[in-house]
Amino acid sequence: MWLIFCFLSLKIIIVLGTITPLTLFVLQSNTFSGLFDGQNVITLQRVPSTNEYLKDKLSKSTPLREGTVIMAVDQYAGRGQKGTTWQSESGKNLTFSLLLMPSFLDPKHQFRLTVAISIALVRWMESLLHTPVTIKWPNDIYVGDRKIGGMLIENILKGKVWKSAVIGIGINVNQTEFPPAIGARTASVKQILHTDCDLPELMTDLCLHIGRTYEALKKGAHDTQLVFYKQHLYRLGELHPFLVDGVRVNGVLHGVTESGRLQVDFNNYVVDFDIKEIAFVI
Ligand code: BTN
Repeated sequence: MWLIFCFLSLKIIIVLGTITPLTLFVLQSNTFSGLFDGQNVITLQRVPSTNEYLKDKLSKSTPLREGTVIMAVDQYAGRGQKGTTWQSESGKNLTFSLLLMPSFLDPKHQFRLTVAISIALVRWMESLLHTPVTIKWPNDIYVGDRKIGGMLIENILKGKVWKSAVIGIGINVNQTEFPPAIGARTASVKQILHTDCDLPELMTDLCLHIGRTYEALKKGAHDTQLVFYKQHLYRLGELHPFLVDGVRVNGVLHGVTESGRLQVDFNNYVVDFDIKEIAFVI
């Protein structure tokens, strides 16, 4: 059964049917522009993972436009990087995935997209919080020594063509209590601003920032975006311990290579690592 309601500029379509969990499609108001025109925002009341949901739709060749956003109110089995989980209190945070089709990029330049999305998040969050925000390599978003958000980018390649990228974004917004194991290293927007924020409004604004950096990347802005990314690296130029193959070693975070490998300076000897080879000691 399909029920369709239209309210002035805010169009809401509620779809009731065989879809489980109950799916609530909300087309947002016309505050988007460019890639994100607001006609492709799908809000799900409850879903295991928005990334999985979007990838499943893609695998079934569901026609989806670039810029489609899948947003969850209650994401109960969110996925993080390196096989971790992403936990988010129902209705409190931004948990969404957006679809990009970066066929203009050679798949060997996948890190360029990570850079563009990361810097969009930094710019958006600095404008929201009025405080410095950094990127813990490769793409965790930090305020001070606390993680406030993260992303999980999953790429779908067909031969040598980069067909699509599912950009999963989780930002702690109105949640103020976290599991004890991560509480001391986790932050939320509300903990900093001391006020609740409107989630669809924040999502709209963040998508506008992403749209802008993505369009700039298309026009060849990678070099300047990489400079910005490097300047905003968490612990840049600082001496800290790292775990390299399980061994604790002190090094100075030096930067990243073009392909996204982390460069660490050990007594004036710079070595670069991929994500599986090194970990921060926090
Ligand atoms: C990380 O920091 O480890 C990445 C977190 C990414 C979480 C987001 S929430 C929306 C999207 N759906 C998922 O299952 N994960 C991402």
